[in-house]
Parts: sequence; C-alpha cells; structure tokens
Amino acid sequence: MDARAGAAPGGAIAPPATEIPLSADIAAVRETAVAVLRANDLGDITRPSPTLYPHQWLWDSCFIAIGLRHLDPARAAAELLSLLRGQWPGGMIPHVIFAETTDYYHAGPQRWRCDRVCTTAGGVQSTGVTQPPMIAEAAVRVGQAMSREDRADFYRRLAPGLVRFHEWLYRERDPDDTGLVTLVHSWESGMDNTPTWMEMTKPVAPRAVRALRRINGDDALDALRRDSKEVPPDERLTSADLFTLYRIVRELRRSRYDFRTIRSTFVPLVQDVAFNAILARANEHLETIAAEAGVRIPRWLSRSMRRTRAALNELCSDGVYYSRNFRTGELLRHHTIAGFLPLYAGVVPESQVDDMVDTLMSPRYWAQYGIASVPTDDPAFLPRCYWQGPVWVNMNWLIADGLDRYGRTEAAAAIRRNTLDVIVSSGSMYEYYSPLDGSGAGSNRFSWTAALLVDMLDNGARPTSRAQAAIPTTRTPA
Ligand code: DGY
Repeated sequence: MDARAGAAPGGAIAPPATEIPLSADIAAVRETAVAVLRANDLGDITRPSPTLYPHQWLWDSCFIAIGLRHLDPARAAAELLSLLRGQWPGGMIPHVIFAETTDYYHAGPQRWRCDRVCTTAGGVQSTGVTQPPMIAEAAVRVGQAMSREDRADFYRRLAPGLVRFHEWLYRERDPDDTGLVTLVHSWESGMDNTPTWMEMTKPVAPRAVRALRRINGDDALDALRRDSKEVPPDERLTSADLFTLYRIVRELRRSRYDFRTIRSTFVPLVQDVAFNAILARANEHLETIAAEAGVRIPRWLSRSMRRTRAALNELCSDGVYYSRNFRTGELLRHHTIAGFLPLYAGVVPESQVDDMVDTLMSPRYWAQYGIASVPTDDPAFLPRCYWQGPVWVNMNWLIADGLDRYGRTEAAAAIRRNTLDVIVSSGSMYEYYSPLDGSGAGSNRFSWTAALLVDMLDNGARPTSRAQAAIPTTRTPA
C-alpha cells in the first residue's frame, strides 16, 4: 500500500505543489535548494557536496533523484542509470563511483585499487564496497513522475542491472541463506561512526593508533588526516576511528573484496538492521520494476527476498531492533536511529508500532528537533557529530514514509514538518543538524538535504510558521 496522496503504484503523480502555493519565503528556500542541486550537478551525476564529497555516492544519488524528479524526471532517471556504470562483473554497485575530477578526496581510487580486481561496466573507477540499496525505491518514485512510455523505457534500461545487484547482495553477502545481508565496512551502512559500528571497529584499530591513543596522541592523528578541512574535526568521526576504517579497507583490498576471503580475516562483519530494512523495501519495488520491464526475477532470488522480511524480526528484542554481529550471532545492543528503519520496511508487527512511535517522539529522540540519530541520554550522544546524534533528513524521510504506510499519518506529517522547520530556519542545506538547537553541521550545500526538501515541499508538506519567522534575512549563499 502506498499512502502518499495521489501516488498510485506505477501511475504518474500530480505534484500537489501546484495546489498548495508556497509563501514567498518558502519559495525562496526551495530556490536555494534547487540552486544547490544545480551547482552540484556534474552532468548525469550529482556530487553530494562541493568540497567534502566530490564524486558519486550510491545512496546519495538515490535521494537526489527523488528530489530531482520534481524538477526534471529525465535527469532524475539519468542519475540512477549512471550508477550502473560502476557495476562490477559480479553485480555489485559500489558505494562511490569516482568522477573525472582532480578535487581531493581522502579515500580515492589509490586507497582501493579496484582496477586490479575487475573492470566496471562503464570502465570507471570505484570503491570496493556497496551502500544501502535505495535504487529501487528511487526508481519507483522517479517512474511516478514520468509518462507510461518513458517509465517503461527507463525501467527496461535499469531492471537487468538492478536485478543483478540484488542477486549479488544475496549470493555474495548472505552465503549462509539467513535472509540478512552482511556488511564488511561501516561505509556500507552509510552511518560511518554510529555507536554500533564503532563498537565493532575499535578493537581492530591499527597498532600505531592504539599506541598513540595510550600516550594521548590524538592531536598527532588529527594532523595526519585530510578529510576535515571543510568541516571541523569534531563534527566528523575521530581520527582514530578514521584510521581504523582505512585499515579495514586495506584488508578488504588484500582479500580482493571477496566475501569468502574476508570472512577469514579480522574484518568486523555486521548484519546491519537499517541496510536490511532498506533492502526489504527495495525488494518489493524491484518486483514492480521487473514486472513492468518484463524482466524475470529468478526463483531463488524471490525466495531470499521473502526471507529477509521474516529475518528482520530476529533482530528485535523487547521491542527494539538492533544490528547483529555476523560472526557471533549476538545483537549489538545500541539504541540508534537504525533501529527504526524496520518501520520503513513495513515488517514491524502492528501491535508494536505505537510504542515505537512513542519512543521516537519522546525527548530522548526528539529533544527540540527530531529525530536524533543517537538518543540524547546516550553516553555516545554528541549533537553535532555525524552519526552520533544529529538529525539526518534522509532518515526522517524514510521513517515518515514507513509511518504513512502504517496509517500513522499524523506522526509522519509531524516528522516532515519538523524536518522542514530545521532546514528552513537554518536557511541552508546542511548535511545534518543538531537535535538540540537545530544548528547546521557537517558539509554545507549538501545535495540530499536540498533534494528531499524539494520532495517534501512539492508533496504538500509545510514548515510551521515558527520556522518561517526564523528564516534568516541575510541568507548564507547557496
Ligand atoms: C566519507 O568519505 O567520509 C564517506 O562517509 C565514506 O562514504
């Protein structure tokens, strides 16, 4: 069931924006968002931000396409089709596809050396890991904004590669047929320094990092890193964690990115709850896309896809969903935003939904601006530090979407209103926002914030008048 107004599956949506006019102030914020998307447009890919992320990221491109469909559906479709250029022969779609740019990026092709392992479909350079499989969701949204013929053409071009991607996820990353896909790096989860992943990552810190930590040499590490030029280091993951993530990349490279080899190394392996929840929803969309494109989904894949829905509920304990350590089978008992994504997947039993919504709306997660990525009373909580507390626009979008399908439309509307409040009162498209005071943090001119703002506004969501009153008169330049 798709509860969005006017969104008949497979049918075109009439954008409600034309029905509910935007006030001049809100229209100006939307223009700022559109300007950010235009400035980050590199042809048929959109970089997440002009400085920190100069290439193409998998799930960023998906959220970006969801917004772009309101501006130019064909361009939105191109954003998704361009991801197939990075597809590996085995089916993986990588987390970063490197653009033709000389702009500095701290984890560029030299760190991965994937060209030694394989050639991608489009001959482009990429990383050797994947990211949350949002493509099918984005494709269905883009398809809704197209004519029937254009959509059929778009789906025919996308479907074969997309089916191969889902096949790879199960064949390579669920070899034991558990129904849950296993991740080999926190960058695959998209939530680089969430406490769950940091618990798994810290014990494998390189020896030099451990030694420097013992003598309190964090400053020495900070001096070595180069990803924090635009963003203050305390809004990113710690240097020690970053160098540990580089060590894991090194080990993956030595394992030629092959899960059978990786399994016998020290690399932490996690059945990530958010990733698998996104996969569960993507599987449903994949069926729609494949049917419309006339592409067959192999029977074994359909069986695995069905298993994911049931397996997600094995990750639930006392009403809370957690990720699981693949090696030990233990749940990683950290309360984080990832635990709410089963609402987006639609796998939470009806009897549990209201309790989860109450938790979400409680001051633990919703101090002033919701939803905090780590509860505000958690020892790991840092309001402006990456995935350790800030509000993320994409998470709010996903959870609100799930709540709509559960018929919790008021909660969904409150989340969207609050999301718009926080963006609108900052006047800028930040990567993330403090749940305590709404201040923007991380990279500015961030594409998915801009794209999802456009999507929410054009689907009729509005900020409160309180936020509109707070719109800065001198706006930060886009
Ligand atoms: C980065 O470069 O910090 C990214 O989060 C990796 O995906």
